[in-house]
Amino acid sequence: MYIERVTLKNFRNYENKTVEFKDGLNVIIGRNASGKTNLLESLYCLGIGKSPRTNKYREMIRWDSDYAYIKVTLKKNRSTHTIEYSIDSQDKKRIAIDGIPLVKLSEILGMLNIVFFSPDEMRLIKESPQERRRFADISLSQQNKKYFYSLSKYNNVLVQRNKLLKESRDMRSLPEMLYGWDVQLAEHGAYMIGKRYEFVEKIQTFAKKIHLEITDGKEDLQLEYESNVQYGDVKEMQTVFFDKLRSNIEKDTNLSYTSFGCHRDDIAIKINGIDVRKYGSQGQQRTVALSLKLAEIYLFESEIGEKPVLLLDDVLSELDLYRRQKLMELSSGLQTIITCTDFDMDLPRNTVFIEKKE
Ligand SMILES: Nc1ncnc2c1ncn2[C@@H]1O[C@H](COP(=O)(O)OP(=O)(O)O)[C@@H](O)[C@H]1O
Ligand SMILES: [Mg+2]
Repeated sequence: MYIERVTLKNFRNYENKTVEFKDGLNVIIGRNASGKTNLLESLYCLGIGKSPRTNKYREMIRWDSDYAYIKVTLKKNRSTHTIEYSIDSQDKKRIAIDGIPLVKLSEILGMLNIVFFSPDEMRLIKESPQERRRFADISLSQQNKKYFYSLSKYNNVLVQRNKLLKESRDMRSLPEMLYGWDVQLAEHGAYMIGKRYEFVEKIQTFAKKIHLEITDGKEDLQLEYESNVQYGDVKEMQTVFFDKLRSNIEKDTNLSYTSFGCHRDDIAIKINGIDVRKYGSQGQQRTVALSLKLAEIYLFESEIGEKPVLLLDDVLSELDLYRRQKLMELSSGLQTIITCTDFDMDLPRNTVFIEKKE
């Protein structure tokens, strides 16, 4: 799939702007604060349904306006589709695909698949487990709607459960009050854990190969999903999950939060057996992040038979020449939209200049 065109109205610094893209490499060139990240943010929104950098949708509306509108035309399996996305000043979002409004915003997932890589994502390796779970969750949600459904349910139930733990004064009635939430947490949690184990296993096969190539055969990358629930039959995982929640009630009441579950899991990342999260150099951590993001592309292809669109925000300046070349080599054959202040690589491309005055 590839994006043919995007139109932005009152989105961030853009009053009214249309940008045309080609399949293959697109280079967006502009000075600092000219709106390069904003442009990629708009594309990300249409793929994932939300911004990569804010949960406050209103922030994306142009300062002197009361709505923002994004329209993307994309080519998918040789047919053309449009996605429209609008936000009003009450934070209300509306999405339409091919002119038909979506009832549920999450239906947008899977229409335009995105792999996004920015200097922030480079911190994926050394940041908190939350970032690594987010990586898996965003990728899985795009590939599998059921996963996204379970993830939203799980998060909602978790908030309710924590609220009860915090507010409940009566320990005797608490187990009964939590029962319904625990059944749901275990059901959705076990499903998610199973999918995350499989995700890590699959992405590792691609990431291992890519990482070996980028590091000249020196670094053996290993990934492992870290959870207190062992991989197995989903019903069995659900039972383990449920029993653990129930036996933790007293502990959780003292802590005022749910101490067990897939919201506490992590992905272990090792190079030649050593934990890169803790001991990797900055360069190693960046290279691993790069390998993981590139692996995500191949995973998309093998899972849904189509390559995603790769958005690269300002990452070239963070990589040395060799890694830059590897990145461009491994991402050829799909639509890549890359932002930078200047581009000196000799590659066939579509170049778009962004002026600050927009
Ligand atoms: N809601 C908004 N309305 C108008 N301008 C905005 C809004 N949000 C951000 N901007 C402007 O966008 C610019 C940053 O754009 P950005 O895409 O991050 O630049 P860069 O080209 O460096 O990636 C800033 O100058 C900021 O003033
Ligand atoms: Mg930027």
